[in-house]
Amino acid sequence: MLLTSERILSRVAELGEQITRDYAGRRLVIVCVLKGSFVFAADLARHIALPLRIEFLGLRSYGSGTESTGVVQITQDLTTPIRGDDVLVVEDIVDSGLTSAYLLELLATRSPNSVRLCALLHKPARAKEPVHIDYLGFTIEDAFVVGYGLDHAQNYRHLPDLMVVAEGETTRR
Ligand code: IMP
Repeated sequence: MLLTSERILSRVAELGEQITRDYAGRRLVIVCVLKGSFVFAADLARHIALPLRIEFLGLRSYGSGTESTGVVQITQDLTTPIRGDDVLVVEDIVDSGLTSAYLLELLATRSPNSVRLCALLHKPARAKEPVHIDYLGFTIEDAFVVGYGLDHAQNYRHLPDLMVVAEGETTRR
């Protein structure tokens, strides 16, 4: 067990309060990056006491293994423009940083008023691309984690806690 659901939820509540303070008086557009962020974004949004819109963007950066390919594919784009909006990208985990760096660059080309990044987890040991995380839940060691929305080959997303996948499991494809 890496992080219990209780511990995650209490940190998510703190992040929501911080975001509420920082964006006071503004409207927010939350971009939930599918699939891994769906649980985190749902919990976080309910702790943000501001008028907000939730948009979904599907990205795929991994196959069924555990190493970043560096190739990011958009599987589902936003359905509304974000021109002039204050955008908060909600990511499950920043690992190599390739996915978030690509996404932040892409969204910036659509002329939003601002774009910030909120990530539940950060694995600094694996960073390849420097990414500034404005709101971070937890920094973790270099291990492959599942649960709370995160998967291994599309499994385990529904687990309420965050768990580390055993070594043999991640090498078996
Ligand atoms: P990055 O491009 O290497 O930063 O990878 C980001 C994406 O890879 C995340 O949004 C996750 O979907 C996936 N990912 C990275 N590390 C893990 C992990 O430990 N467990 C599950 N998914 C992961």
